[in-house]
Formats: sequence, C-alpha cells, structure tokens
Amino acid sequence: MDGNGRWAKARMLQRIIGHQRGVETVKKIVEECSTIGIRYLTLFAFSAENWLRPKTEVKALMMLLKHYITAETSRMLNDNIRFRVIGNRPELPPDVLHHLDEAIRVTAGNTGMTLTLALSYGARQEIAAAARRVALEVAAGRLTPGEIDDACLARFLDTADMPDPDFLIRTSGEMRISNFLLWQLAYTELYFTEKNWPDFDRDELYKALVHYQSRERRFGKTSDQVKGRV
Ligand code: IPE
Ligand code: MG
Repeated sequence: MDGNGRWAKARMLQRIIGHQRGVETVKKIVEECSTIGIRYLTLFAFSAENWLRPKTEVKALMMLLKHYITAETSRMLNDNIRFRVIGNRPELPPDVLHHLDEAIRVTAGNTGMTLTLALSYGARQEIAAAARRVALEVAAGRLTPGEIDDACLARFLDTADMPDPDFLIRTSGEMRISNFLLWQLAYTELYFTEKNWPDFDRDELYKALVHYQSRERRFGKTSDQVKGRV
C-alpha cells in the first residue's frame, strides 16, 4: 500500500491525511476481497524500516492502526474474517499490541478470508529470525543440518501456515519489493499500478485481478506442460 504521502502532498494536505484516506481504502478493499472469496489478503502496513520516519508520523500511524483495529474487529467477526499479524511484534507499542492480540484472539475461529497485517515487518529480518530458530533446533539436537531444505526453512517463517501469495499489487508507480515477503514471492505474479493507495478502489482491484487471470503460471515448466499437452 504505497503513495499515501504523495496523494496528500498533491492536494497540499498533511501526510497523515493521506494515511487516513489510506485506511478508508483498506476497509473497502478488505471487504471486497472477502466478498469475492479471496482466501488470504496480506497488507504491508508498516515496514521495519518505517520506524526511521519522523516521530510524529510514526506516532500518528500507530494511532490510526489502533483506531482501525478497535473499529473493525466487529466487522471482521461479522464477515467471518480471521485476523493475524506478521512482523517483529516486540517493537510495536504495548497498547497497539494489546488491541491486535484481542482482534487475533476473537477472530481465531473464523473460517473466511485470512487478513494479515505486516507490521514492523521486514523480509530479511524474518529470514534471519527463521535461520536463528533453525540453528537452535540443530543445537538442541532436534534437527540435523542435512534436513534443512527450503520446505524446512519455510516452516520457521512468520507465514509458516499460509500458502505463498499468488498475486502482489503495489500502488503508486514504484516498481520494487521493498523487503516484503522476499522468500514467499518466489513465484508470485507481480502487478504495479500508478494509482496512489488512497485512489485504489474496487474498479482498480478488478482491473488488477483481470490482469492476473491472463497470466500463465509455469513455475519453471514449459507452456505445453502446464496446459497438460505433454
Ligand atoms: C504508504 O504510503 C503507507 C505507509 C508506508 C505507512 P507512504 O507513506 O509510503 O506514501 P509516500 O510513498 O510517501 O507517497
Ligand atoms: Mg512510500
């Protein structure tokens, strides 16, 4: 979700107004994805590197996050949405963490869309943490170095119980990954739109999904193979 700041600047508004509008987009897109049957929606809401932004902006973002969670938990319950969080949790303010945990707890039994917020999240940090946990398992004698393959390492990532993403959308015209799900995106279809996140709406989502439908996912195989001609 990128471009909140630029959306605001283009309108001579403060960046935080852009973030507020960004939250409105989140609500609409979450609802739409849940309605059309998306199983997993993961939103990159705050990166490990975003802590380096001006203190006032970080504080405002944390407040917005808290408001979003308290206001939306009942809707998640209504819509059968299971909520969860990935990222470096201990870095989040305790009161924000409290609200997040409450939302996770009360929606744990839901069977509809899994909504994951990536908060204080960085993929390199996630992979390093997984390596650390693997090392501990080896040191404890529960795992041998020979058993460590890609499937094994994946079980130690924050996303252990989630499928790899089929599709990634990045808004605001930036064409980079910015330390998001580096491991999990290996075969993900990527989509970039010029729209800033506050301007991303239902029509834009559908446009992106129609693009996705035209992609041929070969996972290293040939086109004939994936079409079942071989
Ligand atoms: C994305 O919008 C929201 C967060 C990273 C929290 P930005 O704040 O990155 O907006 P730009 O990139 O400055 O336009
Ligand atoms: Mg940005």
